[in-house]
Amino acid sequence: MATGFILKGQVLSFTGSPFGGGQPEDAARLQEAVAVQDGLIAGAGTLAEMQARLPEAEVRDHGQSLILAGFVDAHVHYPQTAIIASWGKRLIDWLNSYTFPEEMRFSNRGYADEIAGRYLDLTAAHGTTTVCSYCTIHPESADAFFAAAQARGQRVAAGKTCMDRNAPEGLRDTAQSAYDDSEALIERWHRVDRLEYAITPRFSPTSTPEQLEAIGALWAKHPECLMQTHLSEQTDEIAWVRELFPQARDYLDTYEEFGLLGAKGLYGHAIHLEERERHRLREYGAALIHCPTSNTFIGSGLFDMAGLMAEGQRIGLATDTGGGSSFSMLRTMAAAYEIGQLRGTPLHAAQLLWLATQGSAAALRMDGKIGNISEGKEADLVVLDLASTPAIAQRAERAEDLWEAVFPTIMMGDDRAVAEVWIGGRRVTGG
Ligand code: GUN
Ligand code: ZN
Repeated sequence: MATGFILKGQVLSFTGSPFGGGQPEDAARLQEAVAVQDGLIAGAGTLAEMQARLPEAEVRDHGQSLILAGFVDAHVHYPQTAIIASWGKRLIDWLNSYTFPEEMRFSNRGYADEIAGRYLDLTAAHGTTTVCSYCTIHPESADAFFAAAQARGQRVAAGKTCMDRNAPEGLRDTAQSAYDDSEALIERWHRVDRLEYAITPRFSPTSTPEQLEAIGALWAKHPECLMQTHLSEQTDEIAWVRELFPQARDYLDTYEEFGLLGAKGLYGHAIHLEERERHRLREYGAALIHCPTSNTFIGSGLFDMAGLMAEGQRIGLATDTGGGSSFSMLRTMAAAYEIGQLRGTPLHAAQLLWLATQGSAAALRMDGKIGNISEGKEADLVVLDLASTPAIAQRAERAEDLWEAVFPTIMMGDDRAVAEVWIGGRRVTGG
């Protein structure tokens, strides 16, 4: 048996949800040390307690740094890595001008391997240990991503994107090939090591009713899989959906009608929801994925975090790279805070950190394994330096409590704040 190791610092974990109605900080707990053995968290407590548990373990002292579960990014497009921060377009034009031409390149397995590796290295350097990614329509783009994550020992979900209309030649599959290729990928990758398959219709404008029906049948056959798609991101998009599906009651209905609404469903953006949609999402316990840097960057709108949380929706947080303008969940938390402010409902630092870890893990139905520091969870950890730049350091120095000390890093931090990252008990960055 390995001797394990102990990280000492300000170890942050959650004992409940900071959206539960009490003081947000009451849902969080600070401890002195976390012990790791055989890739799992052996416990958290005082250093003496952890040393009693693992007497042979090396102790890595991180001083006043914050140690928490690795960030979980619940909605990304790894193939858009190289076109992040492309200027001046709104959703549909952005897809046609930048995204589709880049996604075309992923028919080449070598290119897909290169970008998958680059993406996972970049995100690990930003403290992200789990992502749920769209691939492209090419099965080899999913093979490349799963192989890269497997080599890094990472817990990820991903799926081949399905599109059979309103996309250029070379970037369309069919109802049948989407079904067959997705199922072959499920058989190859689902629950292999730490990998999970997410059935991935891109969004209803790029699937015919026949394809949505086929994908619904696939999900019914493989209910153990996640299903991810986009919902009500921009008003122009919603108007287009109404034209394409004149019978549908609303945007969500274009999924619901074909069996694509469920508890393991992930609905990216979900900004301009109608009452009926909110009701049905809540009833099914589906997950809404908030992508704040994307929503400001592409000009989509202001997600109603406070209202949706108050009605009991399940919500995760995500970059939506490369519609989102950052690989960093710190930048993403900052944008979520700003959107909250624009709606008159600022989020507490405990709520932001919870969303980026446990909240997203719960959205992905992985909270039994990751997303928090507690005994038996997988040891995906990030160590944050709360004084990583002069600007942050001078503000944090004035802090009177932990939350005031953390908030400048949330608002102004980036990969420079990420001192160390551990994936499955293995250190991947940091000295
Ligand atoms: N809707 C459909 N596809 C996409 C995408 O790639 N990014 C974003 N932000 N929205 C989408
Ligand atoms: Zn997206």
